[in-house]
Amino acid sequence: MSKLWLTMACLFGVVAVPFASGSQGSDPGRKTEATACVACHSTRLIDSQRLSAAAWAREVDKMIGWGAIVPDRQLLVDYLASEYSNSKPIPSPATSGNGVKP
Ligand code: HEC
Repeated sequence: MSKLWLTMACLFGVVAVPFASGSQGSDPGRKTEATACVACHSTRLIDSQRLSAAAWAREVDKMIGWGAIVPDRQLLVDYLASEYSNSKPIPSPATSGNGVKP
């Protein structure tokens, strides 16, 4: 019986790890965004922007001024500037709130 539990634990451990990190990813910048930037609006409002690094820095400072608690400002600015840069294509048209195309 204990062997079965051990096997189950091993299997679950192997299977659970990718799921556990799946929603937010392991990127510390993405994690910061997902924790510091969702108190007042969804990440979609952020991820649909395409801004320069300077504009992202201003944006993050504006949000900090409004009450966002950002543990590592530079890390977040760097992440947003690389992930949602104004040199990237404009995102596809917005879907409705539940992710279903209207
Ligand atoms: C204290 C509440 C609050 C937090 C926390 C917050 N925001 Fe906002 N954010 C707002 C509000 C309110 C708006 C809408 C402003 C408007 O309509 O002009 C907004 C709008 C935005 C926009 C759209 C452009 C704009 O300036 O209106 C971006 C991009 C944005 N936030 C980024 C962020 C990021 C990045 C973080 C995390 C550091 C964050 N927000 C955290 C309140 C917040």
